[in-house]
Amino acid sequence: MTYMPPEYGHLLPRPFSIFSADREKGEVSILFEVRGRGTALLAGMRQGAPVKLLGPLGAGFPALQPDSLLVAGGVGLAPLAFLAASTEQRRTLVYGARTAKQLVCSPAELGLPNLTVVEATEDGSRGKRGTVTDILPGLLPGSRALFACGPQRMLAAVKGQALQAGVPAWISLEERMACGIGACLGCAVQTSGGYRRICRDGPVFPAGEVLFND
Ligand SMILES: Cc1cc2nc3c(=O)[nH]c(=O)nc-3n(C[C@H](O)[C@H](O)[C@H](O)COP(=O)(O)OP(=O)(O)OC[C@H]3O[C@@H](n4cnc5c(N)ncnc54)[C@H](O)[C@@H]3O)c2cc1C
Ligand code: FES
Repeated sequence: MTYMPPEYGHLLPRPFSIFSADREKGEVSILFEVRGRGTALLAGMRQGAPVKLLGPLGAGFPALQPDSLLVAGGVGLAPLAFLAASTEQRRTLVYGARTAKQLVCSPAELGLPNLTVVEATEDGSRGKRGTVTDILPGLLPGSRALFACGPQRMLAAVKGQALQAGVPAWISLEERMACGIGACLGCAVQTSGGYRRICRDGPVFPAGEVLFND
């Protein structure tokens, strides 16, 4: 959770995934898009200005297995790039967005050994034309596990494809958050085990447990 300094008059923190971390330097980086006031304020901060962080919070992805399939939509790339960097085993990232401009990072910028990146844009401006779910049917049969983060509509479709192919899958959910520590219940989502808090029980859940609204 990222808190803005008090002078911005913005009280509630905003949740972000860790994009990369350098444990020796004690640094983490986030990759974010401007959606509203909080992210606009964050984007407008001067370089070197202090930001208070609380985290890491909740439950992340399980350890990567060889031949894992990572699926990211837009800034959903952040936690998957972090996950991909945790190993040098062979793995494939399917990375999609509406347009090339929304593919915020190139495979070269990720610079991760043994990572195959398949890009897709809905308008065909970079990579394959279409959505990540157009690409998955060709890749799921050889995959041992799937990990995904992105817009809810994409996650619902990816969940269906993974379950149908019999590939174990985990998805990272997004919801608006207030406390970030499990107290306010503002981030509850429906699962097969009842309501669960994204900030504390997630944000990563086994795909089969998440009940998406139609
Ligand atoms: C676990 C988690 C990890 C996240 N990781 C990242 C990340 O790595 N990079 C990134 O750019 N964003 C990430 N987000 C989303 C990010 O937290 C929101 O974009 C941010 O809080 C918006 O704040 P704001 O003040 O700019 O927008 P607001 O003014 O609060 O809202 C602007 C608009 O965005 C919508 N919105 C706000 N929050 C969300 C949300 N969580 N999901 C869907 N719609 C929302 C609102 O309904 C509104 O329409 C993550 C969210 C969660 C829960
Ligand atoms: S944000 Fe308060 S319970 Fe999750």
